Amino acid sequence: MPAPVRICFVCLGNICRSPTAEGVFRHLVAKAGLESAYQIDSAGTAAHHTGEPPDRRAAATARARGFRLEGAARRFEPEDFARFDHVVAMDLQNRSDLISRAPDQAARDKVTMLRDWDPQSADGSEVPDPYYGGDAGFERVFDICVAGCTALLEATRPAS
Ligand code: 4NP
Repeated sequence: MPAPVRICFVCLGNICRSPTAEGVFRHLVAKAGLESAYQIDSAGTAAHHTGEPPDRRAAATARARGFRLEGAARRFEPEDFARFDHVVAMDLQNRSDLISRAPDQAARDKVTMLRDWDPQSADGSEVPDPYYGGDAGFERVFDICVAGCTALLEATRPAS
C-alpha cells in the first residue's frame, strides 16, 4: 500500500472556502473508496476564526447538496509544509501568503491553487471569497470546489 497522499486546503479564515473544499474532497474520496489513500485537512492563513466551526452559510449550502462540512478553524503553520504533499490555496493572496511563509523551495513547490487543477478553468482563476456576499457566492464556491476537487482527485489518485 503506497503512502497516503496528504492534502491541506487553505483559505483566509478556514471557515468558508477551505472547509468546503475539504468536505467536497472527503466526499469524493469516500465515494471512490479511497479513504485509506488520502489524509485531508484544511487551514487558514489568518487566525481570527481559530476554533470556530465552518460558516453557517457554507455548511447549509453543502448540506443541501448532501455533503457535510466538519472541523474547527486553525491557522496554517510553517510546520504544516512538512505534514502535507499538496498545499492547495483558494486565491492568489492565499498563495502568496503561503509562499512567503514557506521555509524552502521544496515547500514552495507544494503550493498550488485549487482551480489550477481544473482544466476547464483559466490559469490563475480564484475561488472567490464569499464571506461578505450573499448566498449565491456560497453556491458558486461550492460548484467551483466540486470541479476543482474532482480534477485534483483524478490527478493524485493512486494507480489501481
Ligand atoms: P474564508 O472566508 O477565507 O473562505 O474562510 C473568510 C472568512 C472570514 C473572513 C474573510 C473571509 N473575515 O474577514 O473574517
